[in-house]
Amino acid sequence: MFKSGAATSLPVAFGMAVRLIVVGGGKMGSALVSGLISANWAEARELAVVEPDDGRREVLGAQHDGLVLFDSPPRDQLADDGGAVLAVKPEAAASACRSLQAAGINRVLSIVAGLATQRIESGLAEGSIVVRAMPNTPALIGAGVAAISGGTNARSIDLDWAESILAAVGKVVRLPERHLDAVTGLSGSGPAYFFLVAESMIEAGVSAGLTRDVSRTLVVETLLGSARLLAETGESPEELRSAVTSPGGTTAAGLRALEQRAVRSAFLEAVLTATERSRQLGH
Ligand SMILES: NC(=O)c1ccc[n+]([C@@H]2O[C@H](COP(=O)([O-])OP(=O)(O)OC[C@H]3O[C@@H](n4cnc5c(N)ncnc54)[C@H](OP(=O)(O)O)[C@@H]3O)[C@@H](O)[C@H]2O)c1
Repeated sequence: MFKSGAATSLPVAFGMAVRLIVVGGGKMGSALVSGLISANWAEARELAVVEPDDGRREVLGAQHDGLVLFDSPPRDQLADDGGAVLAVKPEAAASACRSLQAAGINRVLSIVAGLATQRIESGLAEGSIVVRAMPNTPALIGAGVAAISGGTNARSIDLDWAESILAAVGKVVRLPERHLDAVTGLSGSGPAYFFLVAESMIEAGVSAGLTRDVSRTLVVETLLGSARLLAETGESPEELRSAVTSPGGTTAAGLRALEQRAVRSAFLEAVLTATERSRQLGH
């Protein structure tokens, strides 16, 4: 094991068990660690990251003084009520589960896309507790939304534990696992849909004669402001849309062009097709 800031391996001091071991110090794993520390969920020294890449460990150690770093899951370093977050790519999940089993770790929150709780359970020790989550990329800046589902042995205390972790990087909803493919198609893939909308609108602004920089600023702020209006007023999208649509006005003309090109049905197809794709990949 490696302690951040130390040039050589150091033994963990007796009694210094960590509360959470994040397996995979990539984009999501490191965003979680930063979120947990800034939300005061834990201090850096109460968190460990398992990351095989020396360079990544070095970066993480430099970012969080005291963070405990390992190149494989440690035995006997986890507090009794602790657990691990599985934050590796799907193709690395089976071997990461085997190493968790070897380390005697049997409470796991998995954020691995498309990997069913049953598959994770079968890679861990008999009776292990698994909570599966489907987060999304805005989690990287603490503005994500995730759905969580408990596996066979997950109790409500385990869902509370998982929710408390993911709440450090965004909002959390609880759903039966059968809905996670729909969550993947909606909020998992959703940022990409909005990026496509942003890209198209920026290009449209350029076509209408604005510079790319100005067009980008106008589009990004419009997206942000519209999202905040939706979230903060609690009004429905229809109400907010009609409030800016005066009869025979410019917005009505723009909306008519979108309706003529079946934008609603394009979004419907996008979400349903992505949901189906998630189902296929999970089997
Ligand atoms: N990014 C997102 O917004 C997002 C959204 C929803 C779900 N997810 C899910 O989150 C998971 C992580 O995604 P990510 O974007 O954070 O991926 P990532 O940046 O590639 O991070 C994965 C990290 O895990 C390390 N790793 C590989 N094998 C390992 C092992 N056996 N034990 C410990 N660490 C290991 C990798 O190291 P090496 O590079 O050396 O292999 C890498 O640093 C994925 O399953 C993805 O489906 C991500």
